[in-house]
Amino acid sequence: MIECGTCLAIVSGKFQIGLKVEGDGKLRQLSFGPQRWEEDKAPEFFPSYGDGWIYEPALAAVHHDGNVSTDLRVVSWTSEGDRTVIHLKDAVYPFEVDLHFRAIPNLGVIESWSVIRNGESGTVRLDAYASASADLGDGPLFLTQFHGDWADEANLYEERLGPGLKVLDSKLAVRAHQFRAPWFLVSRGGPASETEGDCFAGSLGWSGSYRFSFEMLPKGGMRAIAGINPFGAAYHLEPGTSLETPRLVWAYSDQGTGELSRNLHTYVRENSLRDGNRVRAVLLNNWEATYFSFDEAKIISLFDGARDLGMELFLLDDGWFGEKHPRDGDWQGLGDWMVDPKKLPNGLGVLPASAMAKGLRFGLWFEPEMVNPKSALFEDHPDWVIRQPNREMELQRSQMILDLSNPEVEAFAYSVLDDVLRANPGITYVKWDCNRYVTQPGSYYLGSGRQSQLSVAYVQALYRIMDRVAAEHPHVEIMMCSGGGGRVDYRAMSCAHEVWPSDMTDPMRRIFIQWGFSYFFPAIAVANHVTRWGERPLKFCFDVAMSGRLGMDVDVDKFSPEEKAYCRSAIATYKSIRETVQLGELYRLESPYAGPRSALMYTHNGQAVAFVYARGGVEAAPLRLRGLSAEQAYNVRELGLENEPATAVTLTGSELMEQGLPIPAMAEFGSHVFAIVPA
Ligand code: DGJ
Repeated sequence: MIECGTCLAIVSGKFQIGLKVEGDGKLRQLSFGPQRWEEDKAPEFFPSYGDGWIYEPALAAVHHDGNVSTDLRVVSWTSEGDRTVIHLKDAVYPFEVDLHFRAIPNLGVIESWSVIRNGESGTVRLDAYASASADLGDGPLFLTQFHGDWADEANLYEERLGPGLKVLDSKLAVRAHQFRAPWFLVSRGGPASETEGDCFAGSLGWSGSYRFSFEMLPKGGMRAIAGINPFGAAYHLEPGTSLETPRLVWAYSDQGTGELSRNLHTYVRENSLRDGNRVRAVLLNNWEATYFSFDEAKIISLFDGARDLGMELFLLDDGWFGEKHPRDGDWQGLGDWMVDPKKLPNGLGVLPASAMAKGLRFGLWFEPEMVNPKSALFEDHPDWVIRQPNREMELQRSQMILDLSNPEVEAFAYSVLDDVLRANPGITYVKWDCNRYVTQPGSYYLGSGRQSQLSVAYVQALYRIMDRVAAEHPHVEIMMCSGGGGRVDYRAMSCAHEVWPSDMTDPMRRIFIQWGFSYFFPAIAVANHVTRWGERPLKFCFDVAMSGRLGMDVDVDKFSPEEKAYCRSAIATYKSIRETVQLGELYRLESPYAGPRSALMYTHNGQAVAFVYARGGVEAAPLRLRGLSAEQAYNVRELGLENEPATAVTLTGSELMEQGLPIPAMAEFGSHVFAIVPA
């Protein structure tokens, strides 16, 4: 932090948030990234409702005496290392807000959140309680959201922000994303470009309902407010208590979205993702191979296939549990976490043991927050689910959500994982699923005065469970899944090693989904599985999946000898490049939104790997690479061909970046993977 009298600046690389305290204690914004304001025109930084501010507020509180206005003034600020806290207090009420910042050195990334404290003699109701607020300045400004649905996640949609209020939100309570991810981009001057221009990214670390609003103010400026969605979620702050809001991660670059993503990837690897610099294993999942129909012999036969093809980890998906109501389909058994004695008569323990004997690690699927009404758990505890009284219970995928705001239920959900992991130390990987969202927000536990607290209390309990599992079972890697990519926020990722971005595994669509995730998540955190969805050529499936963390989700027993041979060599190829992919710097070269050919590359330790895909026929055209050393000569060799060329083409970095790598015409489902190493 830089200070000068009544001014302070929070600085990370090229990103600076400049603030000033007025004589009356009001906090004003002097700069945000490239935008600067004259001192007498500087906008308020964290506006609150009811005492002059008539636009979207960052904070709206009903004080214990019914006063709906808040007037925050700076009392002091403190700074230590990369952290700054600005202490604000209402001019009259003992009601305080601390604005927290953490500036990540050099990356242009600043975390921003608030802590709200009630020192009044009665409850204060918070009707808005944002994590972050900023004026993005005058336009033209272009907003990109990442929208979609099940099996269609993270599609980019860009629009120019105009007059009025633009809101991106979700009201799902137990996850952020189903229809819109909790991240956005804003570019200044024109649509976002990969290589040039001012752009911001925002990403909220909250696995529940969120709200991002962008309001063009009549007197100039674009007010952005980000945080938990307060809709239907008024928070009752008891006297003497505080609420810490989730972190909004801001990032800024003046070099376009490419640099923005690379900086965010570094941030995620080092600050959010667990073991972000440890290369991930190649995994075989049985979900699309068997769904719920398997037994011990079938699973063990898949181990043999996995090992034979060079995979390193096996994940047993849904369907392994349920005694009274065996989990033979999604309509029953969820909540009853005892092994199904019909499918696995020798118990669970034989599976990790047998996997280990074959040189594989073993992982297991859980959905600890959910229950089927047809389960022993629901029969015993019908009041443990989230539902409304006097309304017919609404099911999604035949299931209900457990009410984690109830401490007894929180303890149960933790024990689901803890018991199984303690009893089976051979399990070193968990897929944590969450297959529905809240449609009837009601809690038996919270009582009539606190129903609106449910979504916040749920997510707070969820993080206590996730943090405890991570702390108690540090050797267990976690994949965050939520019917595909529903839980894809940086806070959930702090308990996990990767995300399952989508159930859509047809590479023709997956190219877009991976592209969308790549803006905020590094390749190491994005699990991509080769399946038979769409029946695409195997090479195309592998080449698409290889640009992240590679796995397979197929019945390998059913492959022909030729197919097995191809998988074996593709997995060996992946192992030869995975360090570059998983730990590398991403360059998005050609967007799938721009035409049928798309391409991306990673650089790491002076080497690079490039991927080119054709979703339709394309003419021959050079591929301009990025991120290489101009003077360096590189050998470029294509990987994954049946007869890989013994010799490589040699070109300099500047030739590869300026003239480009010649790529021949490609037919639909064509793909190339190139290794680029110093000559
Ligand atoms: C949804 C997940 O996205 C799938 O991969 C699979 O794990 C199923 N749930 C299992 O029910």
